[in-house]
Amino acid sequence: MVVVGMWLHRKDMRLAGKPVPLVIDLSRAQDRRILGYFTGGSVLFLMVTAIGSYYSYQFTESVEFCGKACHIVMEPEQVTYQHSPHARVSCVECHIGPGAEWFVKAKLSGLYQVYAYAFDKFPRPVPTPIKNLRPAQDTCEHCHWPEKFSGDIVRSYTHFLSDATNTEYSLRVMLKVGGANPRRGPVAGIHWHVSKDHKVEYLATDEKRLQIPWVRLTTKDGQVTEFRSPSFTNAVNPADVRVMDCIDCHNRPAHIYKKPNDAVDLALALGTIDRGLLSVRSNATYLLTQPYASVAEAMTAIASGMEERYPGDDRVKPAVAALQQIYRENFFPAMRATWREYPEHIGHKDWPGCVRCHDDNHPSADGQKNIGFKDCHTCHEILSQGAGPDLMNLTPGGQEFNHPLEPYDPEFKCHDCHTGGP
Ligand code: HEC
Ligand code: HEC
Ligand code: HEC
Ligand code: HEC
Ligand code: HEC
Ligand code: HEC
Repeated sequence: MVVVGMWLHRKDMRLAGKPVPLVIDLSRAQDRRILGYFTGGSVLFLMVTAIGSYYSYQFTESVEFCGKACHIVMEPEQVTYQHSPHARVSCVECHIGPGAEWFVKAKLSGLYQVYAYAFDKFPRPVPTPIKNLRPAQDTCEHCHWPEKFSGDIVRSYTHFLSDATNTEYSLRVMLKVGGANPRRGPVAGIHWHVSKDHKVEYLATDEKRLQIPWVRLTTKDGQVTEFRSPSFTNAVNPADVRVMDCIDCHNRPAHIYKKPNDAVDLALALGTIDRGLLSVRSNATYLLTQPYASVAEAMTAIASGMEERYPGDDRVKPAVAALQQIYRENFFPAMRATWREYPEHIGHKDWPGCVRCHDDNHPSADGQKNIGFKDCHTCHEILSQGAGPDLMNLTPGGQEFNHPLEPYDPEFKCHDCHTGGP
């Protein structure tokens, strides 16, 4: 502004026929005063800008900004994140990570997102996976040490059948998570995949990475084993190959869209939905999964649907409240986001998950090995299953899985029948 001002002034003077030489004479009081104002003003201006940019930097890195600035678009991610184990980790710690390079990348892609939001050009739902997600070494591994030895972890899975009496069928499963550092325990078990001593790579042939026909294992001594589904005969383009990391199993650490079956099972176990209501498991999952145009429509339909099925029963009111809350936290009609759009890669019951590779149909080139599923004991031991006393009786060595209603037919995979919904 100073330079422009000077230029305009000189131009005016020249037009008026009196050219002015540029003289700054600090012996003149006026010049000293002007210099004083200029220096003081500049310092103040720089300070305000610095503080301002610091706060705008802080703001654009905040959960508020990422999750709420463009309300509808990020609502599903924001809400599901708030109910995840990472609710206190900020979005940028997983999506940007430290360093200037990714900061700039994120701000550039942010510019496109502002445009897409302003002109309503965004996809509904937001597609998954994120193609240029920063590798887990630079994000997850800032907090999680990949070499940690986790050993065996026992988990309970609470389920109910969709029969008239809502029969419980729960499981206690000991997962052999193991570890990836030979000095802390055997490099074995589920976390074996991420050991630094070898590399597991794969090729997915679909957008959502649900079809994995080709896998390569490279050991520390350079030995390479290729596993390939017999029906996949294409050449492998090295650019499409992905090195397996945390995200290939833990792809929903923050945005957990509860499956309606699991959400209702939890409510039944907690008693927020009364187990005594006949067929309530099947009615509740049905009502949750109808195609509603808005949350408001779903709220009314869930309430009237339950009243209709259990007229005059005073156990309905709390059940309706529980179902409405499940809906609000896991279904987002405005963005068409539900568990169906967001596969979860851990496990193998409702989504292919581990079975994308572990399907007994990935023989190695020499035919000596196969990535297996049939041997259930590779990954876990079922300690107990069923309900009541059966569920209390633990078998440390593991039991064979006793599929409810009908024996499990190993010709099928679990996700051929189970989808997480009714
Ligand atoms: C603990 C790490 C973590 C945190 C914290 C986190 N995310 Fe994510 N986010 C992920 C992972 C992992 C994915 C799935 C990436 C993939 O499969 O490519 C993801 C996916 C997404 C997607 C794509 C849609 C989807 O669900 O796959 C969006 C959008 C997103 N996150 C936004 C956010 C916002 C907004 C926040 C903060 C409110 C946030 N994330 C916090 C890890 C995180
Ligand atoms: C800023 C630190 C931080 C980052 C980054 C982070 N996590 Fe975590 N994570 C935690 C903490 C803390 C916990 C334990 C939460 C608790 O138990 O309350 C946790 C828990 C977990 C758990 C156990 C969840 C459970 O059900 O108990 C998994 C799995 C996990 N993180 C995976 C990831 C993955 C994958 C990423 C990268 C996408 C990631 N984390 C990024 C801090 C982080
Ligand atoms: C092959 C799949 C797979 C990969 C790859 C994987 N995990 Fe896991 N991880 C699991 C399973 C399965 C569990 C058991 C808990 C569960 O089912 O949620 C688990 C448990 C965990 C836990 C909770 C247990 C504990 O000791 O606190 C953390 C944290 C975790 N993983 C972090 C990571 C990180 C970090 C990476 C990447 C370096 C990673 N995992 C890679 C499958 C995997
Ligand atoms: C490649 C490893 C692997 C193999 C092989 C495997 N499982 Fe699993 N299974 C898992 C993991 C991981 C989980 C935990 C998923 C989670 O935490 O959500 C699991 C969970 C389960 C559960 C509890 C699921 C639930 O939601 O209630 C059952 C039941 C089960 N497996 C049965 C079997 C049976 C039967 C076989 C053999 C035919 C088998 N599994 C083979 C990895 C495996
Ligand atoms: C991208 C393909 C891929 C996926 C996905 C995958 N695995 Fe594996 N897994 C492998 C390969 C390859 C081996 C080594 C097979 C061999 O050498 O015979 C293996 C071996 C294992 C082993 C034996 C490790 C040891 O001690 O030698 C376990 C346990 C295991 N996987 C569990 C899981 C679980 C649980 C999941 C899902 C959460 C999973 N895997 C998902 C490729 C995969
Ligand atoms: C041929 C189809 C089919 C296959 C394959 C199958 N299931 Fe099931 N499963 C069913 C049916 C039907 C029910 C009863 C559902 C109900 O009443 O809601 C059921 C119920 C269950 C339940 C208790 C209720 C629930 O919804 O969680 C569990 C746990 C279960 N199956 C686990 C598995 C596992 C693990 C596998 C793979 C090892 C598997 N199933 C394979 C059809 C199948």
